[in-house]
Amino acid sequence: MRNPQLNRHGELQHLLTLDGLPREVINSILDHAAPFTEVAEREVKKLPLLRGKSIFNLFFENSTRTRTTFEIAAKRLTADVVNLNVSTSSTAKGESLLDTIDNLCAMNADMFVVRHSASGAPVLIAQHLQATGRDHIHVVNAGDGRHAHPTQGLLDMYTIRHYKHDFSQLSIAIVGDVLHSRVARSQIAALNTLGVPDLRVIAPKTLLPTAIESMGVRTFSDMREGLRNVDVVMMLRLQNERMAGALLPSPQEYYKVWGLTPEKLLLAKPDAIVMHPGPMNRGIEIDSSVADGAQAVILPQVTFGIAVRMAVMCMLAGQ
Ligand code: NCD
Repeated sequence: MRNPQLNRHGELQHLLTLDGLPREVINSILDHAAPFTEVAEREVKKLPLLRGKSIFNLFFENSTRTRTTFEIAAKRLTADVVNLNVSTSSTAKGESLLDTIDNLCAMNADMFVVRHSASGAPVLIAQHLQATGRDHIHVVNAGDGRHAHPTQGLLDMYTIRHYKHDFSQLSIAIVGDVLHSRVARSQIAALNTLGVPDLRVIAPKTLLPTAIESMGVRTFSDMREGLRNVDVVMMLRLQNERMAGALLPSPQEYYKVWGLTPEKLLLAKPDAIVMHPGPMNRGIEIDSSVADGAQAVILPQVTFGIAVRMAVMCMLAGQ
């Protein structure tokens, strides 16, 4: 079977993962996003690039910022957006995922934006559409299990490029619960593709996936070593809801050792930026004074996320 992300002309048909996505495609999405940041500053925040398209937001797992920014992005492009409340939808009555998809296809959907707790759900939908000859419908993965969160990875790349310009000169540390993090997997894939020479992961050993080094990162368990002279600190949320069994002594202990405090941040370069995908656990993985401090670019990440999602949707389904 051909790569399910590409159509028969080799163009991006779905956005499912950043793993294996060529550098030119990533750069092209970031380039497309840049002018969309200006749309947000206009009196009339609208462009007709997806006029007449029907986009279904299918969030089988909770989300505030991802769901809302996809919705805003689609509306700014003049698409019709339908948000399915999955907890009260037919899947809650036992309908299968693919039956739900078939029914929405019968309503002439043009795009599905899918978040699911099961790794692989968006890929399954894309393969189903392909196998049933509905090649004109696009799927965007908005986060599946521990697997991937490609638009988050892309908005993170946009943010880094905005503040730091040249990926080939950077030292970057990803800190925290890598084991459960689809965000970290997408970040690592993109940062390697974009040629970051010094990519580090800082985490307790119990929160690192096995064979993490094969992903092209250096691992550290000590914040003071790992943060030394980095240009970018990318924090991750401690994903308590995904933890089976005790992987950590306590949140207080975690904060003491792996929480980003002003004092630990001093080890990074003085102009280092601090990122977080949200939602943040203040006082657990990040100190409030860092989260609200001058080096944090956490809220700009959210704003850039809209432009990046506009770019992805346009590249997939725009005229
Ligand atoms: C992340 C997610 O849901 O994967 N959040 C987000 O999309 N902004 C990260 C997280 O939940 O920790």
